[in-house]
Amino acid sequence: SDPDTRKIEMHYTPPTSDTIQTKPFPIRGERANFVNKPHVIAMVGLPARGKTYISKKLCRYLNWIGINTKVYNLGEYRRHATTAYQCHDFFRPDNIKAMAIRTQCAMDALNDVCQWLESGGGEVAVFDATNSTVERRQLIRDIVVKKMGFKLFFVESVCNDPEIVEQNIMEVKVSSPDYTNMNKEEVLADFMLRIEHYQEKYQPLDEKCESDLSFMQTYNTGEKVLVHKHEGHIQSRIVYYLMNIHIVPRTIYLTRHGESLMNLDGRIGGDSDLSDRGCEYAKALGNYIAEQDIQRLRVWTSWLCRTIQTAVHVNAPQERWKALNEIDAGICEEMTYEEIESKYPSDFAARDQNKFSYRYPRGESYEDLVARLEPIIMELERQGNVLVVSHQAVLRCLLAYFLDKNADELPYLQVPLHTIIKLTPVAYGCKVENIRLPIDAVDTHRPKPKIPGYLEERFRRKGNNHHI
Ligand code: ATP
Ligand code: F6P
Repeated sequence: SDPDTRKIEMHYTPPTSDTIQTKPFPIRGERANFVNKPHVIAMVGLPARGKTYISKKLCRYLNWIGINTKVYNLGEYRRHATTAYQCHDFFRPDNIKAMAIRTQCAMDALNDVCQWLESGGGEVAVFDATNSTVERRQLIRDIVVKKMGFKLFFVESVCNDPEIVEQNIMEVKVSSPDYTNMNKEEVLADFMLRIEHYQEKYQPLDEKCESDLSFMQTYNTGEKVLVHKHEGHIQSRIVYYLMNIHIVPRTIYLTRHGESLMNLDGRIGGDSDLSDRGCEYAKALGNYIAEQDIQRLRVWTSWLCRTIQTAVHVNAPQERWKALNEIDAGICEEMTYEEIESKYPSDFAARDQNKFSYRYPRGESYEDLVARLEPIIMELERQGNVLVVSHQAVLRCLLAYFLDKNADELPYLQVPLHTIIKLTPVAYGCKVENIRLPIDAVDTHRPKPKIPGYLEERFRRKGNNHHI
């Protein structure tokens, strides 16, 4: 028997493609009538066309803007259902046994997608698989739209450039769990044959044959984009986002302004000048960037004096963005944390309870900041090398996007003064390096209190020292 199918044969007899069994799909419950229907985004395309890359990136973006999203990768279901991958033969269209396993895995993954959207609080599920035939797409539509009543949007990546395909294989497939014991040349040869097997049955999305489907197609990493019957807000945002991303190598540098006079006093917000050490950092930053010799670098600052002064020695075109201004602390602007705690104790405690959602009276929350920063993220996606000179809270939001951090982690991310955070896209994520320049600065990070403030206060009043 095909060695790849051994493990699954121990558990059950693989179904054939016409006797395929599915678990009963969940019955749609009360969510049936709600306005924002759950969405399934189903990827389409031959292997090594960036489907996983797009899925993960889209997931990160949607979660960042507050839409609960999860990726279901069919390759992982397949690896779970079989023993170690042997070779491309597993993907031959005439390998009946393997084909049955693959179909069963697709049904299992779709079942999990539907369960999560129906009862797990999910809003968007990305089904990351090749979905490369009309038959498979009709099956997905029958389940997702007809049975479950969810919205369905296909995203196809078409790429006919052999150089890009080979580069993709060398970048991500050589380190795939399928190929742990093969050298690069063997991986490339096997993967090319794998692609050929898919090619035999591949039917790209077609607006005539599949006129009822909502979909977008992106050609050769965004050279051309076609959108067909997209519906509603979420799909529009997805289309817009995917139209803006690119895979040209580049680096993003993030830094806070140099130490400011307000930082020295422990005061938040305001629009003060740099301290002497802050001015030194500005010079050191200018030198560091010059040494790196970065091609076509652009510099973005906020509208506040301290970021503009910090970028003054950087020799590159500069842009000022109001959206990069620090979080507006409203009635607490220019106060120290101690002053806020004594003047507005309940506000101070409320912020510690849920720092992401807490909005300063007449000011902003981190959640507001994320919304204000979305155009910045979109523009950063479009750009090449950029140095962003901004502020603690703003940079936490940007970092959370690049490093996939959730709303609980985001307001506590470490963004120290006098440190350059260098972000380089790699494989499916981002490499992050912290470059601390040797100029002292105060520490403005206030860590999450161990005991929530309101409990601490209650315990202090009662003179109660018990652990909670
Ligand atoms: P498989 O079907 O084997 O899972 P895949 O289509 O999911 O393959 P990925 O694993 O996502 O392919 O390939 C990742 C590579 O694709 C990365 O090197 C990335 O730079 C590149 N890539 C990202 N977007 C695109 C695109 N639109 N077209 C072609 N390549 C892309
Ligand atoms: O203290 C510097 C600062 O940039 C303030 O202007 C801002 O209010 C604060 O950091 C944001 O950090 P946190 O949300 O932890 O208070």
